[in-house]
Amino acid sequence: EEVSGVRASLLEWYDLNGRDLPWRTRGSEGNTGNAQEDKDEEEDRRAYGVWVSEVMLQQTRVQTVIDYYNRWMLKWPSLHHLASASLEEVNEMWAGLGYYRRARFLLEGAQMIVAGGEGFPRTVGALRKIPGIGDYTAGAIASIAFNEVVPVVDGNVVRVLARLKAISANPKDSATVKSFWKLAAQLVDPDRPGDFNQSLMELGATACTPLNPSCFSCPISIQCQALSISRKDESVTVTDY
Ligand code: ADE
Repeated sequence: EEVSGVRASLLEWYDLNGRDLPWRTRGSEGNTGNAQEDKDEEEDRRAYGVWVSEVMLQQTRVQTVIDYYNRWMLKWPSLHHLASASLEEVNEMWAGLGYYRRARFLLEGAQMIVAGGEGFPRTVGALRKIPGIGDYTAGAIASIAFNEVVPVVDGNVVRVLARLKAISANPKDSATVKSFWKLAAQLVDPDRPGDFNQSLMELGATACTPLNPSCFSCPISIQCQALSISRKDESVTVTDY
């Protein structure tokens, strides 16, 4: 079936080509011996890292974010460390990233989660209650850290899906964006939602670029309707989508 083919190809490509980024942690350090406790703690740690990195990535390229992320994590290695920081410290750490409101939301969100005493919110619904966590960040945290089967749609994902389905639409239009969330929800892999979502973002950032996409290195070029149309009609190109 087509959907399972797209999922399998994307995940295989991501396993081989996904960049090793500091917030894409694997393995488990400092286990307590209690399996459930260890799992929860590790997921919370992951969630914190995903949250910080995704907020930074909303306005800044990956290469720049890596340094900011590593410095941030050295200073505040956990949600609890961050919750006791001051706004001045957080703003200082954020200097150069812009949109300081995002740094304040991180700090206030951390304080709110710690004050709640229930650990990191684990679902999109619970995450959306934290001020500053929108659909994108909630989907990223829930799928990547907690394996909730939910989609994530950013500009890269809109472009990849628009080409895959040959949908010409204005990505700035809110009804359009809504339709892509629906499409992404139908596509997300039920077993590996976090990796699947990151594979779409990664594909959009590397091969399926706005200009001069590398369709020859794309794992889903066979299923790509924009590519298929452009091969039949020379007046159409993949970048029209
Ligand atoms: N851009 C923003 N978040 C990303 C992620 N988790 N993986 C790849 N590209 C991204």
